[in-house]
Amino acid sequence: MKRVAVLISGGGSNMLALLRDMVGDHPGRAVFVGSNDPTAPGLQRAAELGVAVAAVDHRPFGRDRAAFEAAMLAPILASEPDILCLAGFMRVLTPEFVRRFEGRMLNIHPSLLPKYPGLHTHARALAAGDTEAGCTVHEVTAELDAGPILGQARVPVLPGDTEAALAERVLRQEHRLYPAVLRRYAQGDRSRLDL
Ligand code: GAR
Repeated sequence: MKRVAVLISGGGSNMLALLRDMVGDHPGRAVFVGSNDPTAPGLQRAAELGVAVAAVDHRPFGRDRAAFEAAMLAPILASEPDILCLAGFMRVLTPEFVRRFEGRMLNIHPSLLPKYPGLHTHARALAAGDTEAGCTVHEVTAELDAGPILGQARVPVLPGDTEAALAERVLRQEHRLYPAVLRRYAQGDRSRLDL
């Protein structure tokens, strides 16, 4: 059984999709949910599901990423995770932090990587006139949104789409893709999944 920790920054809908999947014969169990935002609504929802939660506000640390990460690391390590999932975690991690979890840290990103790493993915897809959008689960490496791809799900871009409409269509697929990839990953299967 793999112990799975999840980091969030906001609503945590992807985190909830992962937690709800980790029951029964699932090869993983959620052991911790952490956030850099103490007001993240997802924290309470995770606690209601019986998972240990902790928040470390990044703001008092200013630009000192290493100090923030050291504080965030304490409860993560205390939960002894085998796998660390970033699920809407909106802080860029230092190479030192990434190295510590190398080969066992996943992220979900709302674009078809390598297209549109970083922010505002849906606005960029619309501005480019793309006919297809989607989401990617990948292993985290020191380079932002550039680690090995473990899975992707695609959606059409529809005529008249707004950023919000496209984001919602993609998010529904994120909720299918991330649990499916984590199940495989926790079993040691790192082959690519396309939904
Ligand atoms: C999701 O769309 C996720 O892909 C995105 O933030 C959203 C979080 O929603 N992540 C990133 O943009 C990472 N750079 P959630 O809190 O409801 O899961």
